[in-house]
Amino acid sequence: MKPLFSLFLFLFLGNYLFAQEISLIPEPKEIKISEGYFKLSPSTRIQSKNAKTDITADLFNHFLEENWDIRLKKGTARKNRINLVLDNKMPEESYMLDVSPSGITITGDAAGVFYGIQTLNQLLTEKDGTLSVPCVTISDSPRFGYRGLMLDVGRYFYSKEYIKKFIDRMAQFKLNMFHWHLTEDGGWRIEIKKYPELTKRIAWRSSTQSGYGWEVQNHIPHGGYYTQKDVKEIIQYAAERHVTIIPEIEMPGHTLGVLSVFPELSCTGGPFPVPNTWGIREDIFCAGNEKTFEFLENVLSEIIELFPSEYIHIGGDEAPKKRWEECPKCRQRIKDEGLKDTHELQSYFIQRVEKFINSKGKRIIGWDEILEGGLAPNATVMSWRGEAGGIAAANMGHDVIMAPNDYMYLDYFQSDDKVNEPLGATWAPPVTLERNYSYEPYSEKISKEQQKFIKGVQANVWGEFIHQENHVDYMAYPRALALSEIGWSPISKKDYDSFLKRLPARLKQLDKQWVTFRIPEPQGWDNITVANNKATLNLKPLVEDAVLHYTIDGSDPTVYGKELNGPVTLSIEGDSIELKCAVLLPSGRYSAVYTRVISRD
Ligand code: ACM
Ligand code: ZN
Repeated sequence: MKPLFSLFLFLFLGNYLFAQEISLIPEPKEIKISEGYFKLSPSTRIQSKNAKTDITADLFNHFLEENWDIRLKKGTARKNRINLVLDNKMPEESYMLDVSPSGITITGDAAGVFYGIQTLNQLLTEKDGTLSVPCVTISDSPRFGYRGLMLDVGRYFYSKEYIKKFIDRMAQFKLNMFHWHLTEDGGWRIEIKKYPELTKRIAWRSSTQSGYGWEVQNHIPHGGYYTQKDVKEIIQYAAERHVTIIPEIEMPGHTLGVLSVFPELSCTGGPFPVPNTWGIREDIFCAGNEKTFEFLENVLSEIIELFPSEYIHIGGDEAPKKRWEECPKCRQRIKDEGLKDTHELQSYFIQRVEKFINSKGKRIIGWDEILEGGLAPNATVMSWRGEAGGIAAANMGHDVIMAPNDYMYLDYFQSDDKVNEPLGATWAPPVTLERNYSYEPYSEKISKEQQKFIKGVQANVWGEFIHQENHVDYMAYPRALALSEIGWSPISKKDYDSFLKRLPARLKQLDKQWVTFRIPEPQGWDNITVANNKATLNLKPLVEDAVLHYTIDGSDPTVYGKELNGPVTLSIEGDSIELKCAVLLPSGRYSAVYTRVISRD
């Protein structure tokens, strides 16, 4: 073979062979793969000369200890080192990662170095009994500066420890905005020093609607809240992982709990119970009452003091105007301010709150209803009722976060299998992983010049039906991995088939971290072929090192299943057979049982 040709062959095959073991999510902007490995051992040194990268070095060590039972000493070395280099001239959040047999260098701003480490974590692999990293050069930066995940802790409370884990997972996949939905009709979850009644009276309820029906109650007391000390601890924890926390205090709607404590802030004067059912309430803050604004300014002052985030989310969604239309104070306000209707009254409300928040050096985000009656001058719009609000706001020159429910609501089912899936939002069609992945934040209805107003993308985990933390994991993952790729990777790298090839390694890692993600149907599940009354299956789990078990006699494959390895041919006796299949993860967790009826041809 000519030397030049063999070099080409090496480069081609080399990239192909090595690419097999590289499964990064999100896919980086540029990656070059070369020959060889860096071998990581207890003698490897981790080098960091800055307090910010020191934190990242500690977190890397923590990851190594948890996942690979190894810890590195810090120190300087010329060889066999992982060198973290802070370079504040690099674009925000970007990094270079260079792996050669003699060492690893990660260069970036503080966030960039942190993200380089997240990539490195995903490159670690056990090779011939040694912890190794394939030689690569990666140049990477995010597509969007805002890559968010929302968790609704208002409906159900999740522990401080769980919130930290949730933030860990986000950071691992380069998501950087944790939108914390802290207040709801049926739950107030943050200590406000000036109003201790809020947590005393609304953080707990004696019962909750059980399932979809309002009338069926579980009679199980539920509740909890975060003290300001907890919140500070969580903010610090998130900051170390380059996650910003955006607090949401709902107004003027979804506030029945507050009105139960302070009925004078409503239009009718109440009284109101703390609700134990979900839905949209007609009783909202009175916009004609000065006391409403005094209350909100006092609450927001404490929120602004606590949270370093530039953004404060003020809700704004699902506020029916019926009470305002009937209320003398609200009607007086409309008259005094020369407003046209109650939509303009909502706009007055939001603008007044915005002015207060702006005066403290912060900016507001609101759900897309804040467009109705006129948008507050500096507001960022979070588009949830599809993309229409986001498109309108971007075309008006306002910043937008795209979170359209039909792609980005993670309380929606992940398949149309209503038997196996745990409780989710029944009223909506499922948001499958594929649908979620297909979302493109630059709508065709936004001109090229206005695209700059799309600051990013977010997925929302609403809590009505999610009582357990492991159920949050189930709803959030693996869809948050699709979100991660939408938010981070260049559009040229977006490819669902490629994503599915990279998914098994990432899900194996999440399994190791005890994340109870939804285990996807095995690959090939939709491609079972039938010929001459024989069904040919070629199923592969979408989780690395998982095993498939199946039955065709109606029995449960998690108990009686045979292992399914590679292609299998099954005879179809009678008119059809019922194939039941389950995926067993390395952790010992089983998937739901996937069932398919296969008919004769
Ligand atoms: C929302 O889903 N009500 C923002
Ligand atoms: Zn009123």
